[in-house]
Amino acid sequence: MASWRALASAAAAAGLLAGCDGPRSALDPAGPQAAAIAELFYIMTAAGAAIWLAVIGGYLYARRRGRRPWSDEAGGRLILWCGAILPSALLLVLLTYALWLMPGLRPLATAETPRLRIEVTGHQYWWEVVYHAPDGRAVVGANEVRMPAGERVEFVLESQDVIHSFWIPPLGGKMDMIPGRTNRLTLLADAPGTFIGNCAEYCGTSHALMALAAVAMEPAGFDAWLAEHAEPSAGVDGEGQAAFLANGCGACHTVLGTPARGRIGPDLSHVGSRWSLAAGTLPVTADSIARFVANPGAVKPGANMPAYGMLPEDELQAIATWLAGLT
Ligand code: CUA
Repeated sequence: MASWRALASAAAAAGLLAGCDGPRSALDPAGPQAAAIAELFYIMTAAGAAIWLAVIGGYLYARRRGRRPWSDEAGGRLILWCGAILPSALLLVLLTYALWLMPGLRPLATAETPRLRIEVTGHQYWWEVVYHAPDGRAVVGANEVRMPAGERVEFVLESQDVIHSFWIPPLGGKMDMIPGRTNRLTLLADAPGTFIGNCAEYCGTSHALMALAAVAMEPAGFDAWLAEHAEPSAGVDGEGQAAFLANGCGACHTVLGTPARGRIGPDLSHVGSRWSLAAGTLPVTADSIARFVANPGAVKPGANMPAYGMLPEDELQAIATWLAGLT
């Protein structure tokens, strides 16, 4: 009976541990900041488990058969050592370790200034991303951050409305985005890869639909990507642009290479090349774009974009196809 229970617990634990891998996991670190946090987690867990075992051991020892009452003096010593001295010493050791770890997690912990600064601003319910390249160029994107692998990148975090929280678990700790305040965080990805973060502070109805991809690229590939995204998409002159402009979409959205210069909603200059639509909610296809444009609230409750369900079907399809082609 007991062995069955042990087997079932082991299977359950294995199942739980399998969830520790992957692009969303803080326990599958892909950079030094996340690695330090994962190490802290393992050491705290091991220390907690050891203390728990010692306490349970003491309890089992105390309730063994044939025990005799302790003298007052022995009881007093037990309380002094196990109730005060040992716990204080253990907590002091763990606290010292955690404090020793902290400076390495601070922004700009090293002397070198990061080459790349990325401004990320939280909105209900999407992420505005502005890359500030060393040559002074600013490139605007949304809902995904690209960064060169092997390089510390500075993230400047702000919010446009309520408190959001920027967290890409495999790369590092979370940092709140607070209206009227600028927070800074530096992250480094060891190798190219795609990691998924999520808004980590409840910010409204669609808080859970506010994901963010972080794509670490080979530095040369990243520079090429940035240069390409500073220019209009090759598909910008396609059919559908006229309908997009005629329906006033440009009041809220920017599309490079067109008169659309709105800054209220996400920049759509290269929306077709993104990992997702609506911050991790839908795949980027013409169909999902049409679905979102017709009724954003059905996909993402509380989204500020008005519904365009009144558009004639052919116009809606033309806009969606054009946007999906902006790669
Ligand atoms: Cu933004 Cu939760």
